[in-house]
Amino acid sequence: MAIERTFSIIKPDATARNLTGAINALIEKAGLRIVAQKRIRMTREQAETFYAVHKRRPFFEELVDFMISGPVVVQVLEGENAILKHREIIGATDPSKAADGTIRKLYAKSVCENSVHGSDTTETAVVEIAQFFSSNEIVG
Ligand code: CMP
Repeated sequence: MAIERTFSIIKPDATARNLTGAINALIEKAGLRIVAQKRIRMTREQAETFYAVHKRRPFFEELVDFMISGPVVVQVLEGENAILKHREIIGATDPSKAADGTIRKLYAKSVCENSVHGSDTTETAVVEIAQFFSSNEIVG
């Protein structure tokens, strides 16, 4: 199995409740390595660019407002099958549909304020990582 990288965000609802460490513990327990991490406040422009694929969805404005409402922790995770593994521990977008033990089942407040983001494909991961990290900030 190839070593992959994926992009992760710990969202404002989670940083507000001081859950960064608890979420990182679940990431590491799953065998993923946090090879880059920084706590930032996204600008509106960054959030609109990041979620551009959802621009025409009715929840776009709510989503952007939420993502800039407080600090986020952006991360690069590395490991075998990292994209799928991370999405498994995150759980379904809607926390009411997420499996027991997943991050969203444990911590998410709603389908919008759902605590974490994870890339869905290798192509998306490359683009998302490049939006927030330069290569010398990622230390595997
Ligand atoms: P994420 O995995 O970051 O990808 C897109 C985000 O849009 C998603 O998590 C949620 O935060 C948000 N989202 C998806 N569907 C809805 C919805 N129906 N209403 C509000 N926000 C949503």
